[in-house]
Amino acid sequence: MFITREVDSLSSPYLSNPFGGKSDKRKQIWLDILDKLPKPNNPKVDFLEQVRVNFEYEESEQLRSLLMELKPWRKGPFQINDISIDSEWLSNEKWERFKELNVSLDGKNILDVGSGNGYYAFRMLGDGASKILCLEPNLMHVSQFLAINKLMSSESIRMVPERLEDMALKTTFDIVFSMGLLYHQRNPSKHINDLKEMVKEGGKLIIETIILPDECGLFLEPDLSRYASMPNVHFVHSDIGCKTLFEESKLFLRNESLAIKTTNQEQRKTKWMPFKSFESALNPKNNNETIEGYPAPKRKFYVLEK
Ligand SMILES: C[S@@+](CC[C@H](N)C(=O)[O-])C[C@H]1O[C@@H](n2cnc3c(N)ncnc32)[C@H](O)[C@@H]1O
Repeated sequence: MFITREVDSLSSPYLSNPFGGKSDKRKQIWLDILDKLPKPNNPKVDFLEQVRVNFEYEESEQLRSLLMELKPWRKGPFQINDISIDSEWLSNEKWERFKELNVSLDGKNILDVGSGNGYYAFRMLGDGASKILCLEPNLMHVSQFLAINKLMSSESIRMVPERLEDMALKTTFDIVFSMGLLYHQRNPSKHINDLKEMVKEGGKLIIETIILPDECGLFLEPDLSRYASMPNVHFVHSDIGCKTLFEESKLFLRNESLAIKTTNQEQRKTKWMPFKSFESALNPKNNNETIEGYPAPKRKFYVLEK
């Protein structure tokens, strides 16, 4: 059984029909690529230090170009034999910041909301998690997860291409993650309350988000919903703003990371993500400011309990 009978029956249909009823004109292209990828017999995986797999395979160049066809790779890196998927984000740096908070994942069932291509879910397995349900509505990210997981052959992660608010799940989880989602929400309080509902009694909610200096007030509503060249950014909270949101939702703050400035080492254009990246997010004359004139992004983790 995958986590609970409810999660098992909800997620099982996606094992054979991974995009569900969702439409995207690239769906068939992705399915053809996935079909051509090898399914290794005895892959040797390492998720503790990185997301890496080794297996016997001769057609390395063909494998590289199939994986390249799934670009843009935003989250990673992934190491597949001698192929390094050098993603836009060095997501390992965020994961290291989470690990400094000493939250044990050992034996835990986890919900990762807005999981992207599943990079962090693999790292959660590396840190001892039992099973991870990923929710990710963007089918491009889902296609990358399916590719990586075909090579890794893990049965401990399932990805469902839905939004949290469309799920109506009764199951609760030991740990719920929402990383990089808060500022995309039109109703941040509702997002926090929806996440809280998914946490077991005694469980933990992990929020990672962009924060602004407290001098900005509780939150900023960026003009045209653009912040650091990102679209669909509705509210960016300050640290005090985040803590106010948590208090209003009756969540208790148990730990928090430092606020770390995003750099163009952590987020940058690569061969695997050749479009605009962090270099177009900041004012070229003043790196403390976004291109729109707001304070440059810093990111922070919060560990919460109900
Ligand atoms: C900025 S990315 C963050 C990805 C990853 N969690 C990370 O920290 O790198 C936000 C992701 O959340 C997904 N997303 C946005 N709203 C969501 C929602 N309501 N429920 C589930 N996923 C959502 C998006 O498709 C996107 O892949």
